[in-house]
Amino acid sequence: MEQIKLAIQKSGRLSEKSIDLIKEAGIKLNNGNRTLVSPASNFPLEILYLRDDDIPQSVEDGVADIGIVGENEVEEKDKQIQIIEKLGFSKCRLSLAIPKNIPYNGLDFFNGKVIATSYSHILRKYLQEHNVNADIHEISGSVEIAPSIGLADGIFDIVSSGSTLISNGLKEVEVVLRSQAVLVGGSTLNEEKQKTLDEFLFRIHSVQRAQKNRYILLNVPNDNLDEVIKILPGMKSPTVMPLAESGWSSVHTVIGEEDFWNIIGQLKAHGAEGILVIPIEKMIV
Ligand code: PRP
Ligand code: ZN
Repeated sequence: MEQIKLAIQKSGRLSEKSIDLIKEAGIKLNNGNRTLVSPASNFPLEILYLRDDDIPQSVEDGVADIGIVGENEVEEKDKQIQIIEKLGFSKCRLSLAIPKNIPYNGLDFFNGKVIATSYSHILRKYLQEHNVNADIHEISGSVEIAPSIGLADGIFDIVSSGSTLISNGLKEVEVVLRSQAVLVGGSTLNEEKQKTLDEFLFRIHSVQRAQKNRYILLNVPNDNLDEVIKILPGMKSPTVMPLAESGWSSVHTVIGEEDFWNIIGQLKAHGAEGILVIPIEKMIV
């Protein structure tokens, strides 16, 4: 396997979770000081710590083979790169917001208004599609203060918890784009690099699958066993073992986090007891 270069955000909303994902994939990073480039010690991967804004370009140029970045940056920078995989973390949205005491009656509001943003490409496209004629002021930071200092009538920016808007007296009026962290790639890799990427993806999938599932153990009266097994959607069929106490069995299986509470309720209704739910570290299928 040949070494591949992965660009991640140096510091900011994506960086900790990007590093967590790499570590959970069993890859050791010589961290501490995030120098610009740093090789992993037990996997052919080199990490490039960059500003998130620079990641799409670095992947297009081949400076990095792959990158972890928000969809917001992928859309905004509009480079020759592809989304390999959505990673499910650092979810946020790109929204239009205006001062909270100003009435809002729909997108028409923005006709003839000034909007401050650092996402002018996405905003321009959106306004064009909706036939709104607004003046876009591109600024690179602290967009949220623009309305209060009289620089703009509204802003177009990232909203995550919403606390930045609240503390600046703004309200979200339109959600334009929903974003999350994604893994991106550029041009086709050679065979040896592709092997490395495939192994990396295989590990990420095992981690993600594990995070989405729980291992559950429960005790069930033998009379109810057939019905309980029908409720459980497990990987294959559940494992059933007799308990020391006659007339009871222990059932083990894997269930998805999203069905979890619903299934637990049904299991209890069928006489299940001593239900244990255990996180899964890795899940290989
Ligand atoms: C964004 C955005 C807001 C904040 C919103 O900045 O510009 O300041 O996050 O988050 P909240 O709704 O949770 O308050 P970010 O930290 O991504 O920095 P960057 O735009 O400079 O990359
Ligand atoms: Zn940024």
